Amino acid sequence: MPSPENRVRRLLILGGTGEARALAEGAAVAFPGRLEVVSSLAGRLSRPPVLPGRVRVGGFGGARGLARYLADERFHMVIDATHPFARVISANAAQACMEAGVERLALVRAASLRPKGLRWIEARDLDHASLLLPTPARRVFLAVGRRGLEAFSRLEDVWFLVRLVEAPDGPLPLRRCTVVTGRPPDSQEEERKLLTDHAIDAMVIKDSGSGDAKIAAAQELGVAVVAVRRPPPPPGEAAATVDEALAWIEARLGQGGT
Ligand SMILES: NC(=O)c1ccc[n+]([C@@H]2O[C@H](COP(=O)([O-])OP(=O)(O)OC[C@H]3O[C@@H](n4cnc5c(N)ncnc54)[C@H](OP(=O)(O)O)[C@@H]3O)[C@@H](O)[C@H]2O)c1
Repeated sequence: MPSPENRVRRLLILGGTGEARALAEGAAVAFPGRLEVVSSLAGRLSRPPVLPGRVRVGGFGGARGLARYLADERFHMVIDATHPFARVISANAAQACMEAGVERLALVRAASLRPKGLRWIEARDLDHASLLLPTPARRVFLAVGRRGLEAFSRLEDVWFLVRLVEAPDGPLPLRRCTVVTGRPPDSQEEERKLLTDHAIDAMVIKDSGSGDAKIAAAQELGVAVVAVRRPPPPPGEAAATVDEALAWIEARLGQGGT
């Protein structure tokens, strides 16, 4: 008969998103004493969020390193809840779980809303997005993250409003810009105010499935949206919501583990 500790299963959440946070919180409430959760973050932010369970920060050293980590730490399951544009870690997770024989679920959020009447311009990548800005866009909102800004550096005549989760630690590669910091608000009113206050005429986003409030505000104000197409989802089993991911865990705990 297995001891109670042996029945406790171990889950690694690959995170860095709101869904990953909600999943760690949901799992702590749903499976107390049955599941140990470790959340893994890349370490891009200066202060990691406070999450239930253990948090580890930093890369694993590629797919091989992740496979080793999964085996050494005796994980039973992995949920890849990383951002839809974080392609490298998702590919590594798929390979590592196969190597280590650990079950994996991808938590992949639904695509962005595209309200009727919205001016939506699809781009292959950020360089392409910089070429597709409608003329005469002169005041452009960039919601593409710190590492996405380089692609716009040659547009010296354009003024940019840049939204970042936290203040940059050095100068940005843009000649004319203003930075606002913080997580995107959920309310369309706040997004409308931001776009109006700064007289924005176009915005660039990653089509990641979040930020529906800013898309709705853009539609309301007639602001053009240049959206970088999202990469294909990782292979294998996927859930679209945190509740579905919790049900996937429950099914595995019910089987007495994997
Ligand atoms: N890309 C975006 O637009 C975006 C937006 C919001 C949040 N995020 C979050 O920010 C993180 C980094 O994104 P990215 O696009 O730079 O990733 P990426 O290009 O897919 O990954 C680059 C490397 O960073 C490490 N890494 C990434 N996510 C990790 C995690 N959750 N835990 C441990 N190591 C991780 C891995 O290093 P090793 O190879 O050494 O293991 C990976 O090879 C992701 O966790 C993602 O969820 C990304």
